[in-house]
Amino acid sequence: MKRKLAAALLLIGMAVSVASAVDVDGKILPGEYAREESFDKGSFKLLWRIVGEKIFMAIDSEAKGWVSIGFEPSRIMANSDMVFGFVEASGVVKAVDAWSTGMFGPHPADVDQGGKDSILSFAGLRTGNRVVFEFSRDLVTGDKSDKPIPAKGALKIIWAYSQSMGFNAKHSKAGSATLDMSGSN
Ligand code: HEM
Repeated sequence: MKRKLAAALLLIGMAVSVASAVDVDGKILPGEYAREESFDKGSFKLLWRIVGEKIFMAIDSEAKGWVSIGFEPSRIMANSDMVFGFVEASGVVKAVDAWSTGMFGPHPADVDQGGKDSILSFAGLRTGNRVVFEFSRDLVTGDKSDKPIPAKGALKIIWAYSQSMGFNAKHSKAGSATLDMSGSN
């Protein structure tokens, strides 16, 4: 009886951990992310889940070029900690941890302004006219070119995407929002 109970508990435990696992593989599965926000009538969707001290994010967009999310700008784009995803038609995927120094950029990579690349994992896939880019990082990286991401409460974000893969090519769409991070795990 005790063994049956232990087995049942183990199965429940496995089911819970599967439900809260995020695979950084360029695919968004039902239930993979805890939270989701849609912007510009769904042309840019942001999904996220906090697991322990890490955050996993996915961008699902109709972008033909780069996609990006920025954290805690002071004004427009200034002082925003940004993550760029480049999912090329060839299947090559790149990610850049960046920081916008001015209201309208520029936004050099952290590593080009004395910081470090804090992106722990990333992946992306193009399917039809949509692109998915996923990445993970620590909530608090300790890098001067990263903003801490709170596990609850408000997080100011900016989002943007481009029709070009050029790192300095401007966005075709951009916007801002405040996320409520509570219930993200
Ligand atoms: C890649 C180079 C980029 C350039 C050259 C650029 C340039 C600009 C410029 C000139 C504006 C002023 C408004 C306009 O002309 O549309 C602007 C606004 C804005 N940008 Fe960027 N930007 C870049 C990247 C980004 C990224 C990566 C993000 C977000 C992660 C972002 C978010 C925004 C937002 C939220 C606004 C305000 C839009 C609005 O209120 O309508 N930008 N940008």
